[in-house]
Amino acid sequence: MSSILVLGCMWGDEAKAKIVDYLGGDADYVVRFQGGNNAGHTIVTGGKKYVFHSIPSGILYPNTKCLIGSGVVIDPIAFIEEVNSLEAGGLKLAGRIMIDKRTGLVLPLHKVLDEQSETRLAGSKIGTTKRGIGPAYSDISARVGLKIMDLAYPAYLKQRIEELYAYHNLTISAAELNQQLLELEKAWAVLASYVTDVETLLNLNKNKDLSILFEGAQGALLDLNYGSYPYVTSSRVMTDAVGTGTGYSARKIDKIIGVYKAYCTRVGEGPFPTELHDEIGQRIRTTGNEFGSTTGRPRRIGWFDAVAASYSARINDIDSIALTCLDVFSGIEELKICTDYEVNGERSKLFLSHPLELEQVKPVYQIFEGWDKDISGCLSFNKLPRAAQVYLDAIAELVKVPVQIISIGKDRSQTFTHEVGGE
Ligand code: IMO
Ligand code: MG
Repeated sequence: MSSILVLGCMWGDEAKAKIVDYLGGDADYVVRFQGGNNAGHTIVTGGKKYVFHSIPSGILYPNTKCLIGSGVVIDPIAFIEEVNSLEAGGLKLAGRIMIDKRTGLVLPLHKVLDEQSETRLAGSKIGTTKRGIGPAYSDISARVGLKIMDLAYPAYLKQRIEELYAYHNLTISAAELNQQLLELEKAWAVLASYVTDVETLLNLNKNKDLSILFEGAQGALLDLNYGSYPYVTSSRVMTDAVGTGTGYSARKIDKIIGVYKAYCTRVGEGPFPTELHDEIGQRIRTTGNEFGSTTGRPRRIGWFDAVAASYSARINDIDSIALTCLDVFSGIEELKICTDYEVNGERSKLFLSHPLELEQVKPVYQIFEGWDKDISGCLSFNKLPRAAQVYLDAIAELVKVPVQIISIGKDRSQTFTHEVGGE
């Protein structure tokens, strides 16, 4: 049995799905372990673009099964819509999706609460995807949330939903409750056949050749505990979350690949030390098509932040880097990497999680020569311009982890393996 984790190591949208897809052809299982449909995972192949929200990115490979672990939260109605739209597009999903029986639910109330909380917070809102993710996870922690197996027991389901509204000091009319129960019953008619025990499926599997690919959603700097709290998501987005989110201990993972973009992006609010407010940021946004796949929001753009990147590499114990979107830099004269944070006149290589501290940071930059050439066809390290090679070397050296996968375009084919840095 072999297992690989593909983990977003910045603020999400690192093009993780592209890397999962690149490696996924050989995987028996692609497994999501946290997050929900706040994720927007894009794969481009054969001129066709797919965006997945709850369904793991392995679904394009007909022999790969897609597993959803207990650490994920599922919006049953949105999930069915996603299944239907993929099937309408010609993908065969029957028997290929398995959801752990302990998986939590996102209910209509959670979306309402997400929206209301963002409105109430106003000036200090988080900028969530408004998919109900935060309220769903907090209800699970408060032990008033619902689990997917509750759908199998209609009377219990009704009681739990009533109790959930009561817990939030809200009332639900009989008509609305019946409407919700009806929709959930319809969803269950489809979902029931997907529900299984992911823990035993992974841990008690007798197949010695089994290959598992764990697919992270969001990014480690959005982790509830180690991210830039409170400007984070509500799930744990770290290597260790594989264990809590699937039952397959993170200790057993053979290889951890941290995915980084050649620059940084962030959607939503929160401090972002290397953020660009000039025409270079604008240019990267346009060339890289940096608009949210879930909400369509323009992504904030910044230079590569090696302080944040090293922190993320360290807390997740990554073995190698997959560097994406290198092609987006073509034509930019001068590139920058933040090597240190300057705080109160002192330089440090330590990341700061507190928003008031991170906001004060003055990034210290190392400057690199850019390149003119369009590199979207350079499918080997040797074909890259010297300046691009130097840039990759610098990332491996600053993060202290070798770069092993390089992506130079959005299509599946525009990816290659080459070891940069390391021993
Ligand atoms: P993928 O998997 C980028 C961000 C939101 C917001 C914060 C909290 O595509 O990389 P939430 O709805 O989770 O409560 O929002 O987290 N966020 C993401 N940013 N990529 C994502 O997913 C994200 N999922 C959530 O913008 O700042
Ligand atoms: Mg995304």
